[in-house]
Amino acid sequence: MAYYYMEPSRTFSEFLLVPNLTTKACNPANVSLKTPLVKFKKGEQPAYSLNIPFSSAVMQAVSDDRMAVALARSGGISFIFGSQSVESQAEMVRKAKSYKAGFVVSRSNLTPDHTLKDVLELKERTGHSTVAITHDGSPNGKLLGIVTGRDYRVSRDSQSKSVADFMTPFEKLVYGKSGITLSEANDLIWDHKLNCLPVVGDEGNLEYLVFRKDYDEHKVNPMELLDANKSYIVGAGINTKDYRDRVPALVAAGVDVLVIDSSDGYSEWQKDTIEFVKSNFPQVKIGAGNVVDKEGFQYLVDAGADFVKIGIGGGSICITREQKGIGRGQASALIEVSAARDAYYEQTGEYVPICSDGGIVHDYHITLALAMGADFVMMGRYFARFDESPTRKLKVGNNFVKEFWGEGSNRARNWERYDTGGKAGLMFEEGVDSYVPYAGSLQENMSKTLHKIKSTMCNCGSISIPELQRNARITLVSATSIVEGGAHDVILKENNIAGE
Ligand code: IMP
Repeated sequence: MAYYYMEPSRTFSEFLLVPNLTTKACNPANVSLKTPLVKFKKGEQPAYSLNIPFSSAVMQAVSDDRMAVALARSGGISFIFGSQSVESQAEMVRKAKSYKAGFVVSRSNLTPDHTLKDVLELKERTGHSTVAITHDGSPNGKLLGIVTGRDYRVSRDSQSKSVADFMTPFEKLVYGKSGITLSEANDLIWDHKLNCLPVVGDEGNLEYLVFRKDYDEHKVNPMELLDANKSYIVGAGINTKDYRDRVPALVAAGVDVLVIDSSDGYSEWQKDTIEFVKSNFPQVKIGAGNVVDKEGFQYLVDAGADFVKIGIGGGSICITREQKGIGRGQASALIEVSAARDAYYEQTGEYVPICSDGGIVHDYHITLALAMGADFVMMGRYFARFDESPTRKLKVGNNFVKEFWGEGSNRARNWERYDTGGKAGLMFEEGVDSYVPYAGSLQENMSKTLHKIKSTMCNCGSISIPELQRNARITLVSATSIVEGGAHDVILKENNIAGE
């Protein structure tokens, strides 16, 4: 007879945190979000920890070298997608590992057709006084000019004046060529008394800006996730098919941490893959998954996984549950696995971190996941919305959106992720192709999310993730109290925006 779980499996939105006493020490400024990335023994330090509990999903639409740099700079880790050739994935790892702080992707960009009014509004919004003017207003478009505060006079110039009429045009700019080193860039900045040096590729596309003021700041960014050589820590996704070719190339490119990316990780294929990595590259760490129960967790731990990823069917673009009828509510999966992780630690003195992967919709879901025992989360949709994700930004109706597609969609064709062994058979989709609302820069959005998490942790009387995991009190909520939790029984004004 089949085994029945008679309790329904639950999702994050069915729970709320109940505040604990907020002591005076509980101030967001005192909260540490440092968290282990890989397993460690009691009394020892993990080989890698994250400074914030965020990782970006192993997806074409999310994690390339640019995302890897942006996230490592803020203290998290990206796992560069594996559904590409071994060479191109290794190249992305190499680029992210060789990236040097000080080169920033331009975050305030307009086109020559914009107006002074647009410049002033952008400056107000972002606080940036240097605006790159590119042919399409994107951070890597063809560079046509730069606007700084020296190019206009608010008191005299008409706000409708077109940017083309007052920008410093490309012909008059001092710029660096692609591949320039930071010290060469700084020499140009000093020699020409610049505040900002654009770095331009062979086709005239803007690659980076180097700011005079950033030079020192970058040296002291406290959250950056760096290895002993001051390169960013970089992760990469692998599959259980071509790991014999892929892993050596990724290791040669400098990858720090691997993760086996699969919709169902409770498999002998994962065990073989872990064993291959452990016996050939003992210095490289490897996470495995995804699983949704204690049996799956224990199997991967026994196989040697350095961390375990939790979640089947909860991803925003995922249709696995509809297609195959497998999965489990993310909260229930996490609660069971974190209990198994704690019991294993109790018995053996070995702590194996767990990652809650998929289904994060609201910022508070992250705090809930941590409180339920996750050491860090993995997110796809969340990061896909930012400038730093690899996909196109488009205008649909009146809204800017970014493209976002699942690894199991026909677009990604990452069939290895769904492979259950044997000969390749008929493939069917387990993911969709979609848009997500464009949200701006990673750093601006993430700092708001992080502040919300820290502030909620203070409500829960905790200033570290382990404390939150120990102290949290979590309640199930009824369907009617979920309604009570939103704005209700009022007439909303039009400019209220639902969601985050
Ligand atoms: P999100 O944060 O809710 O967007 O979920 C991202 C997670 O969904 C990823 O980390 C994967 O575990 C999972 N995922 C990615 N692509 C697919 C797909 O095509 N089908 C099912 N799950 C997917």
